[in-house]
Amino acid sequence: ETPRADLLVLFGATGDLARRMLLPSLYFLDVDGFLPDGFKIVATARAELSRQDFLDHVRSDLKGRPEGLDEAVWARFCGRLDYVPADATSIEGLAALKPHTAQASRPMFYLAISPSLYSKVCAALAKVGFAGPESRIVLEKPIGRDLESSRAINAAVGAVFDEERVFRIDHYLGKETVQNLIALRFANTLFEPLWNNLTIDHVQITVAETEGVGERWPYYDEYGALRDMLQNHMLQLLCLVAMEPPSDMEPDSVRNEKVKVLRSLRGFTRADAQGCSIRGQYGDGVVAGRAAHAYEKERGQPSDIETFVALRADIDNWRWAGVPFFLRTGKRLPERRTQIAIQFKPVPHSIFGGAASQDLTANRLVIDLQPDEDIELTLMNKAPGISREGMRLQSLPLSLSLLRAYEGPGARRRIAYERLLLDVIVGNSTLFVRRDEVEAAWRWIDGVADAWKEAGLTPKPYAAGSWGPAGAFALIERAGRAWYD
Ligand code: BG6
Repeated sequence: ETPRADLLVLFGATGDLARRMLLPSLYFLDVDGFLPDGFKIVATARAELSRQDFLDHVRSDLKGRPEGLDEAVWARFCGRLDYVPADATSIEGLAALKPHTAQASRPMFYLAISPSLYSKVCAALAKVGFAGPESRIVLEKPIGRDLESSRAINAAVGAVFDEERVFRIDHYLGKETVQNLIALRFANTLFEPLWNNLTIDHVQITVAETEGVGERWPYYDEYGALRDMLQNHMLQLLCLVAMEPPSDMEPDSVRNEKVKVLRSLRGFTRADAQGCSIRGQYGDGVVAGRAAHAYEKERGQPSDIETFVALRADIDNWRWAGVPFFLRTGKRLPERRTQIAIQFKPVPHSIFGGAASQDLTANRLVIDLQPDEDIELTLMNKAPGISREGMRLQSLPLSLSLLRAYEGPGARRRIAYERLLLDVIVGNSTLFVRRDEVEAAWRWIDGVADAWKEAGLTPKPYAAGSWGPAGAFALIERAGRAWYD
């Protein structure tokens, strides 16, 4: 068993991610008694704050949360927490941290900073002597903007930390329902025999957001929906749906299977760009009853980046040959919804004449990941009562609402980062993205981006609060299917 980390050095500690997600997650791990005794946190950023100022920020962030603050836990958490202003890219900056980390022998370094600094910070960590064999490094997305730049980052990090000490975060993998996909598929005998092209017609994955890009545009305008969401979160979901059963839950067993899926994705051609994908960009509109401005107004000038993408992916292997995966994601859509819909094939032959035959709809398994967690399997039933037309059928959902699981006393929905931070502490990398996985995902995404370029595919406008450009519907209708709503 890997020894537990005894120190977290959190770079970018005054940033949005650290304040909204990471520090609250650490606090909640402490609430539940998951932080090892003596575990210390050295928060650092360039801001010249005193330790007390920093503690005050963290305290007020926690107080603002619905869970409220437990004073006894806060006292313990404060005791672990230190703040040291430092420039992480410079040797002198990192050296300033040394007196605060000297007690620890198994540090983990979390880079909640711009990925453009990863290489520099890793090199500096090595120079200062922070990259010993017991150190771990945690990286956030985006790891690069394409295959080439991701390789450069991975090489720079790899020159300092062995792969088993590198924890690349995709926060979707920390979400309870995303892990539940693995349980659903491999802890039931019911689904796996049907989980293939003999029974499944197609799969849809939707990640819809109501939020716009807002002040994040300087980052977003370089990436767009394809690189911001599809390359990572959506491909991870696709992998978990499509992978072969791993032999166990060991990190490499699971990640080997995911990589195989990524490598089986059919390369995108120029014809696919035109016929099987669509890019969109939101204009003015209304989202959830509120006026929303066009992306180009947020950005201050026109842009050719997509805030919406829908495409058809094909997995060329025995299990999935002929089963299209339709993926769509966008900002400023009518509702927040992350959903996977597995559409089964219709029954091979209807024994029901006339009206009942018309009632027949194929089974569908709908897995809602956000905002509410729910798994629903639609089944055909006899409609109750007697009808003049003979037996009638109806489709009814068999529903497993996971909300109920949170209703017990003291139960709460965990932040995805809690699970992930704890996994880094104990050294389990099953839920982290391996180097070859990131690169295989980029290879495919680069193919899509190149095909778009070749085909001259520019984003089509859509009204904020709509489900994207009309082409998103046309693309799935051309394949004889429809988006599930
Ligand atoms: C991030 C993207 O990785 O995921 C954001 O950069 C996006 O653009 C976010 O809004 C969505 O995460 P979640 O957990 O809110 O679904």
